[in-house]
Amino acid sequence: MRILGTGSCLPKRIVTNDDLATFLETSDEWIFSRTGIKERRVLSDEKFEDMAAGAALEALADAKVDVSEIDYILCSNTIGEYMTPGLGCFVQKVIGATCPALDVNGACSGFVFALQIANALLISEYKKILVICAEESSRLCDWSDRSTCVLFGDGAGAVVVEKSGDDPIFRVNTASHTDILYSRYEPGNSPFVQEHQPKHYLHMSGQEVYKLAVSTMCSDINDVLDRSNLQPTDVKYYILHQANLRIINTIISRMNLPAEYFPHNIEKYGNTSSASIPILLDEINKRGGLKRGEKVVFSAFGAGITSGSCAMTW
Ligand code: ACO
Repeated sequence: MRILGTGSCLPKRIVTNDDLATFLETSDEWIFSRTGIKERRVLSDEKFEDMAAGAALEALADAKVDVSEIDYILCSNTIGEYMTPGLGCFVQKVIGATCPALDVNGACSGFVFALQIANALLISEYKKILVICAEESSRLCDWSDRSTCVLFGDGAGAVVVEKSGDDPIFRVNTASHTDILYSRYEPGNSPFVQEHQPKHYLHMSGQEVYKLAVSTMCSDINDVLDRSNLQPTDVKYYILHQANLRIINTIISRMNLPAEYFPHNIEKYGNTSSASIPILLDEINKRGGLKRGEKVVFSAFGAGITSGSCAMTW
């Protein structure tokens, strides 16, 4: 599998740490020193599906692929306006596609999971697949909870992939730590249930997530390097889920590599969940940062706990 083109789309509304400090007991210093985040983008009067479609159309243009050539749409989405239909169905309509569209919810690891499914679909019968990651995390957060809402932002990233001679190497995991990072739907009104659980905005045990993120990502990355017969310095870029700069920096020191191998943009966008890797990849691609034949490693972790890494040739 190879990536033919990339795209991204961010809401126009920029919310700085200082903006948050106008209604939360927080500060730019607290947020930046613990997370590396300076600002994030948040949907206001734009439509979520238009943001997702914007990233998709950009990726199609970059790949020089017409929408009619796409055989399948895979959409990684954790949170958006609709529970059903899936976001992929909305995007299909906006971009004028007619192929099947399926949503994947692998939380922040969704890009790596979706890429692995795309690879399997390419091996089976499809030729060109559009993978879109779009997240409306601002809908997930309790905007009165300073310990979580300062971390997230909205955004979308997309790639077009096709079959090629180079096989990517994946490792994906799910370890059922379902109580350290979760968000519950609105309670239903079934008359057959005695006690309805209340709606719960995002719950996160920050320090546990931090430790698991570092250990799983380091082990996933080393596994895909080993199975690809790659030395760590053979890789041009390690493109990691942008959850927290401290997590990225700890991984850099454990991998014992110079920081240039680990680009980041969390300072501008916060944690955009599964969209963070394709948004960063698009930035790197648009500035000509990758040449064909170079190696990249993607690595992410998220609620579940899910995690996944992929080593592939650009
Ligand atoms: N501003 C000011 N003070 C705050 C804020 C805030 N925004 N948030 C929390 N505090 C306070 C707390 O109330 C606490 O005060 P207390 O000591 O009086 O009780 C103090 O700061 C320390 O709180 P901790 O939660 O212990 O802070 P910590 O140093 O662990 O940092 C953080 C929190 C940044 C979330 C950290 O745990 C972390 O990085 N965890 C990793 C989790 C992560 O990155 N998640 C991303 C989303 S999940 C995903 O992408 C899969």
